[in-house]
This record gives sequence, structure tokens and C-alpha cells, in this order.
Amino acid sequence: MMNREEVLRWLHETDPTRLADLYARADAVRRECVGDEIHLRGLVEISNYCLQNCAYCGLRRENIAVERYRMSDLEIMDCVQEAVRRGYGTIVLQSGEDYGLETGWIADLVRKIKAGTSLAVTLSLGERFPEELAAWREAGADRYLLKFETSDDELYERIHPALPNRAYSRKGLLRILKDLGYEVGSGVMVGLPGQSYQALANDLFLFREMGLDMIGAGPFLPHPQTPLGQDATYATLPPEEQVPATEEMAYKVVALTRILCPNSNIPSTTSLASLNREAGRRLALQRGANVVMPNLTPGTYRLCYEIYPEKLCFHEDPDFEHAQLMQLFADLGRPVGKGPGGRPVDIAKGKESSL
Ligand code: 5AD
Ligand code: SF4
Repeated sequence: MMNREEVLRWLHETDPTRLADLYARADAVRRECVGDEIHLRGLVEISNYCLQNCAYCGLRRENIAVERYRMSDLEIMDCVQEAVRRGYGTIVLQSGEDYGLETGWIADLVRKIKAGTSLAVTLSLGERFPEELAAWREAGADRYLLKFETSDDELYERIHPALPNRAYSRKGLLRILKDLGYEVGSGVMVGLPGQSYQALANDLFLFREMGLDMIGAGPFLPHPQTPLGQDATYATLPPEEQVPATEEMAYKVVALTRILCPNSNIPSTTSLASLNREAGRRLALQRGANVVMPNLTPGTYRLCYEIYPEKLCFHEDPDFEHAQLMQLFADLGRPVGKGPGGRPVDIAKGKESSL
């Protein structure tokens, strides 16, 4: 196991030879603990309405330049069928925090998917109320994704303005989700303005402490219609303390996450693939990641789901993307995962890597 000093040292490391050792170690842990399979999760962005006003995200409530949409259940079920046709094991329904997506409506949708397919259902619908999370679990939802974004509470409060009358923080909700029996995913952004090396090291140890089933970490990408994209002084740190939002830093976080949480599912994120279209996806898969989430959102809506600019999927034809992925996995000698690809072993009983 790696201790805090070692993690901090790796986060500061710039020597390419030593970094190659770190990446090789993460790749070996990945192979030993979760195997060679790459799991595919079809992502459907079902609504871009959002009540929240996060300082980093293009879907924030105050961004009136966004054309808002909400998909119908028929449109969503078409995407679900597409996931089945392509042999994916999981469908991920993602949205902003949109109360127009009513509790019962989502529950019915989940029931329909579970009754008609063998897909695992992952929800990623924001900070909804515990009663709603319970109703969706009851309806058959398997997993829930909710990123805590940064473990630095002071920074978090600055970039994620609290809504009134909320009884739970994201970290509190993650606990509730776990107690409800969901497989729980979370994660952070890498290189958020105001994120220090110390805070990022804390994020990594918090992943481990929370026993997360899925952990996603991608680089922060500034969006021009957000406070963090417009105002360079919004959250600042002395340059030696600030984590840079670089591709290399994101790989280091993927690799360190794999070493600290050997049994978790770790996606090769779209934000990383957006930074390096040619090799980002592949490199993350070779440095600890074992999951890819291809976007199944219909083209007309996809462009409106602009969390950050120039998202990889904006330019991709879905069939071309699929073919490209299959080619990539073949080149890597990694098989596509069969079945839902859930928690690879019971994390609580999970083994430590011997590496
Ligand atoms: N850059 C990178 N990732 C972002 N997210 C939101 N805004 C950005 C950004 N500007 C990520 C967050 C959030 C998810 C919806 O997308 O991690 O949880
Ligand atoms: Fe809404 Fe999520 Fe974007 Fe925050 S990060 S504004 S909650 S979609």
C-alpha cells in the first residue's frame, strides 16, 4: 500500500521514466484485481435541465445560453435498445438535477428497462432526496453515480453553492446510497482552480475509505459560460500548490486510484479523451482504467449537453465510435466485458494487490 507521502511524491513527479513505472504498476494491479475485460456502459443524457449552479459546469442554472431538453420515455427506450443491440452490459441514465424528472416516472422507466432487458441500470441524476433514491432502488436500479468533486469542503462550497433546505451533502448522500444497497460511484475533477496537491491526495484516500465501487476522475476543462471559465481569480492558490489540469495529472490520478482501490471499476473518462482525442482513451485504459462509457444520446440533444466545451462525443458518429472502440480493444488485446460488469469482487472482502 502506498502512504500519503508517496502519493504526494507521485503527484509531483515529472520524470518520464519513473512515471512509466507508476503506470506499469497500475496496469499490473488492474490486470491482477479486475482482469483484462473492458466494460461498456451506454450513456444516455436524458435531461440537461439543472437546478444547481456549479461554478464549473456549462449546465448550471444561470447559463441561459443552453437550450434545455428532456427526453421522452420512448426516446430513452430507443437508446436502451441500441445498448442491447451493441451488447453493452449497463445503461447509464444521466441528467442535471431536474425535478421535471419525476420520482414515479423514473421508477417506471427503471422497471421497464429491468423487465425488458438484462441490462444493469445506473442512475446519475444529481442530489435527489433519500425517499426518491429509495424508490428507484426498489424499482430495480443497480447503481448510482454522484461525484463529490473535491474533498476540500471549503473549495467545494465555493464552487457548488448550497441550495436552501438541503439536509444532505453529497458525501452524506453517498452513504445513504450505500445503505440502500446501490453500487456507488463517485469521483473528482483534476486541476480544479483552487485544488491543492494536499487536497487531491485527500481525495484519493477518501475514495479508498468510502469503499467506492466506481471511481471517475477527469481533468477540469474550463467552460467560457461559467464563473470558473471566465474569472481567473475565482479560486486561486500559489502556483506551487495548485494542481494543474493537465492530461498527465489526470493519468497519475487514474493510476494512483487503481493502486489505492485495486478492486474498483475505473472509467477512462470522456473529459480525458476530449483533451487527447487520439490517445487519451487508450492511455487511461493502459494506466488503470477498465471501463468505457460510450455516448448513446441522440445527436440533436447531445450538443446541448455541454458540461464543458468540445466534448469528444460532439464530433463522433455513434457507429464509427463503436467500431473505433472495438478496434482499440482488439489492439490492446483486451476483451469486451460480458454481463453487467458490476463490482468485480465484494470490495469489503476484496484482496489487496500483492504488487
Ligand atoms: N470540466 C470537467 N468536468 C466537468 N464536470 C462538470 N463540469 C466540468 C468541467 N468544466 C464533471 C463533473 C460532474 C460531471 C457532470 O461532469 O465531475 O460531476
Ligand atoms: Fe448541474 Fe451537475 Fe452541472 Fe452541477 S455539475 S450544474 S449539478 S449538471
